[in-house]
Amino acid sequence: MVEAAGTTGGTRRMLRVAVLISGRGSNLQALIDRFVGSADSPVEIVRVISNRPDAQGLDRAKAAGLATKVIDHKAFPDRAAFDEALDAELRAAGTQLVVLAGFMRLLTEQFIDDWRDRLINIHPALLPSFRGLDTHRRVLKRGAKLHGCTVHFVRHEMDTGPIIAQAALPVLASDTPETLAERVLELEHRLYPLALALIADGRVEVDGDRAIVDAPGAGMLVNPQDRA
Ligand code: GRF
Repeated sequence: MVEAAGTTGGTRRMLRVAVLISGRGSNLQALIDRFVGSADSPVEIVRVISNRPDAQGLDRAKAAGLATKVIDHKAFPDRAAFDEALDAELRAAGTQLVVLAGFMRLLTEQFIDDWRDRLINIHPALLPSFRGLDTHRRVLKRGAKLHGCTVHFVRHEMDTGPIIAQAALPVLASDTPETLAERVLELEHRLYPLALALIADGRVEVDGDRAIVDAPGAGMLVNPQDRA
């Protein structure tokens, strides 16, 4: 069993986190709101990195006084070269945990191995169901009764890996892909800070394909105001 990146006992140190984005950055904003400028924050966001120069999230990061970096994937001949540049930037920043927040690039197996158990993602569905894109429409099409979001450690296959935390809500008869997207996004904004705080507090361990959270129910969020 290995301990995921986090702090244990002794003097409290902040977990050095880099957030990777490609666009809107609303999850980044939720992390900023929770962790930037609070005296007892367990997390320090040491870099916000975007593969797109026009990502709205870069403005959010700058407004919060965070260090930003654009690594434009178009400037690299292949995925491996891009990931090497990304890796170098993360290491230069002293990153301990990489947080994918709407980062729309597939990462190489090499990169994922190098950051194993130190690389997390948020996915807008209850994994292992509904991996991939366009989750809200597919949930409605399948008549799923519960939907939500998942924070997980990243493994080679897209949207797989040990599940750290999940948030669920009921699918309403009146829901459309748009209304579901909106309500799931609100849950994401609550779940990602919660999951990151659990890791930073040293309360998450990885055992093979499982993440074990030491406090019962700590990784579970069911939206009580959202009953059908
Ligand atoms: C979120 O729905 C997240 O789950 C998915 O991409 C979206 C990013 O949104 N991976 P934002 O850029 O954080 O607003």
